[in-house]
Amino acid sequence: MKLLVTGGAGFIGSNFVRYVLRELPGWKLVNLDKLTYAGNLENLKGMEGHPDYRFVRGDVANRKLVDEIFSEERFDVVLNFAAETHVDRSILDPSPFLTTNVQGTQVLLEAARKYKVGRFLQISTDEVYGSLGREGTFTEGSPLLPNSPYAASKAAADLLCRAYYKTYGLPVVITRSSNNYGPYQFPEKLIPLMTLNALEGRPLPVYGRGENVRDWLYVEDNCRAIALVLEKGKDGEVYNIAGGEERRNIEVVERICELVAERTGKDEREVKALITFVEDRPGHDFRYALTCEKVRDLGWSPEVTFDFGLERTVDWYIANREWVERVRSGEYMKYYDKVYGPRGVSWSQEP
Ligand code: NAD
Ligand code: DAU
Repeated sequence: MKLLVTGGAGFIGSNFVRYVLRELPGWKLVNLDKLTYAGNLENLKGMEGHPDYRFVRGDVANRKLVDEIFSEERFDVVLNFAAETHVDRSILDPSPFLTTNVQGTQVLLEAARKYKVGRFLQISTDEVYGSLGREGTFTEGSPLLPNSPYAASKAAADLLCRAYYKTYGLPVVITRSSNNYGPYQFPEKLIPLMTLNALEGRPLPVYGRGENVRDWLYVEDNCRAIALVLEKGKDGEVYNIAGGEERRNIEVVERICELVAERTGKDEREVKALITFVEDRPGHDFRYALTCEKVRDLGWSPEVTFDFGLERTVDWYIANREWVERVRSGEYMKYYDKVYGPRGVSWSQEP
């Protein structure tokens, strides 16, 4: 099997690359990644010399480059992880989301069609379904009602995948997962941001009252599910993947405070006092929850509980401060001030 993995230097992509090279001997893998602020070769340290692995720096929206790679490598399968992924950034500027997530996906679909790839797996998200109230879950048949520019760009990509399956018979499969967490997640997302801020004594900016609910999935459980769908999923189908671990944001942040206090010997009340309720995210989806019968029928179930996975994740960020320093460049600080500055929390303010 020869795989093209796009976005393999990001959070889920790098965990997937490591998973394949560890668990699936004989699978050869090319990682095509633009190395945006979110893509870091640090995430793949130790993989560089692996005989089944090759890295190519490049943009999935670059038609010429993508065609060259497909012509040279003759892939059996493509897994498209590459994307602009952060909702808050999509609110600041939707443009790169359209270029990478929509155009980039179309460029890859076209190359897959031209070079007769045996399977195209699109990595999508539960955000395409929009938002739930306190009750109910989304199934794979739920309508697509995206609310943020990020979610809209992912929904558009899903629809292009569907069109390539229906029109050209391209063997496309889509996975839609809930919120992933675990090692190597860029510190703009809730869990690493709160963990690092708590460790550094910075304010913990919780949107609204922290009542929004996310269903957390440990990244390695997602990688196992993706590999299974790749092997056993049916062409033209969508597979939801979730941990079944719904938590209100405030519960997650409070638990992170407890773990940080426990691990560092800091006073728990002092760490919790860093929680700062700030102006809500515009269009903030209230709740996501998924029915995952289809992937369960393939033989998958999550193995890592949220309680255990969160401990492991907090410990990983404590043990990998050098990684944190390297990935949090000057760009991160500028971004931080743009998003949180107007909410009264800035990077430059003394911890
Ligand atoms: P990430 O932001 O950590 O990584 C994205 C990667 O894509 C980076 O390595 C980046 O350099 C690369 N990339 C961006 N634009 C590119 C381009 N034009 N060409 C080539 N590479 C490019 O993202 P993630 O959290 O690992 O998410 C991976 C995929 O999973 C995305 O498609 C995302 O929509 C989806 N997803 C993520 C979650 C989650 O909770 N993180 C949940 C559901 C679905
Ligand atoms: O559901 C899957 C999606 O999960 C993926 O498709 C996205 O790529 C990924 O970024 C994630 O989106 P969310 O918007 O749910 O994740 P984020 O970590 O940004 O926020 C999680 C929740 O925490 C959300 O309700 C907003 C809230 N939040 C987030 C940040 C960064 C805060 O209250 N404060 C913050 O500073």
